[in-house]
Amino acid sequence: MASSIEAWFMDDIHDNPQLPHHRNPQELVSPHYLAELGVLHWKLNPDRYEDDEELDKIRADRCYNYMDLLDLCPEKVENYEQKLKNFYTEHIHADEEIRYCLEGSGYFDIRDKDDRWIRVWIKAGDLIILPAGIYHRFTLDTFNYIKLMRLFVGEPVWTAFNRLQEEHPARQSYKMNFGGTPVKAH
Ligand code: LAC
Ligand code: NI
Repeated sequence: MASSIEAWFMDDIHDNPQLPHHRNPQELVSPHYLAELGVLHWKLNPDRYEDDEELDKIRADRCYNYMDLLDLCPEKVENYEQKLKNFYTEHIHADEEIRYCLEGSGYFDIRDKDDRWIRVWIKAGDLIILPAGIYHRFTLDTFNYIKLMRLFVGEPVWTAFNRLQEEHPARQSYKMNFGGTPVKAH
């Protein structure tokens, strides 16, 4: 079932990225606008992930034959600090980024057509798909824990291409499909 997810335009304050960073007053972003940027979302039952027809159908429809689980917390991840730093460095991928939150929560930040940051708050049960070529980054929130299912078509490639990537073929097809103004390095 497609349904709503909490998303908002971010403020420009460069302190702790794990804080919500709402604007004042808040400017919420609708699922409709996320869809216009190519971002898709489903709300599933995270307790059923091992036996969930709805999840199986999404995987079958979109050919997501690869799956693994990622527990993001200092105890379970090697080079935790460095990994989080990389996740929070603005980048694109050549493929979709598909993440299903099973426990905890976190923020996916994506750029809109005018290069503004939108923060998408994912929690247990949220499955999100970021299209190939969209500029984005990820951080934990102040809860400091997330368990994610990662899906992929075929052998997974997690390579991140840090901004600026206007010549990257995935970036070019993203812009053909979803538009967007020319952007600068930062
Ligand atoms: C990433 C982590 C969150 O790829 O899976 O950004
Ligand atoms: Ni990414």
